[in-house]
Amino acid sequence: MDRTSPVGFFDSGLGGISVLRGTLNLLPGEDYLYFGDSFHAPYGTRPLEEVRELSQAAAEHLLEQGAKAIVIACNTATSAAAAMLRERYPEIPIIGTEPALKPAVERHPGGRILVMATAMTLKEQKFFDLWDHFREQAEIVPVPCSGLMDFVERGELRGDRLEQFLLEKLDPFTKVPVDAVVLGCTHYPFLSSTIRRIVGRKTEILD
Ligand code: DGL
Repeated sequence: MDRTSPVGFFDSGLGGISVLRGTLNLLPGEDYLYFGDSFHAPYGTRPLEEVRELSQAAAEHLLEQGAKAIVIACNTATSAAAAMLRERYPEIPIIGTEPALKPAVERHPGGRILVMATAMTLKEQKFFDLWDHFREQAEIVPVPCSGLMDFVERGELRGDRLEQFLLEKLDPFTKVPVDAVVLGCTHYPFLSSTIRRIVGRKTEILD
């Protein structure tokens, strides 16, 4: 492995491509490997131990291909497995993903902020620590969205079924004005135009 080796990305499926897309703009000179574990998707509804095992297998696969660093392009796998992977591979930079709560609070101090993510992301300690950190600065409302990533995996990025699904998830939380919605799952940026139709033009969407 040397400086010209690729940076390895993994996710439970296609979602991490949204992270890769952003990284390509920042670091166009790097080479990249992407592993989307669509076969085992979704991760967010699996037991924690299983997500750890799948994350370990994904990291191992990328390292075998010569990756010099690992980007966990998945909030769920980061919550479940980042600490474990850092311990297991102390010499490899392991970069995780977390819901963009910090920029949301900075841009909307005192505001009402919804965090859409998988049930696992919202249940794990990592999110509670993040929530704790910003709890005094804004009203933070977690919105578990199990099942939403499946639309992306199917390539269904708009349409009535998706809108109906989003309405059911978001309706209980949008009766009171919302300042920002944080997309806390790397699959959701692919759905942002439909999410925008549901939350309206005044709400900022951050990923
Ligand atoms: N893309 C993933 C995330 O960022 C997870 C979706 C899933 O596998 O449930 O959380």
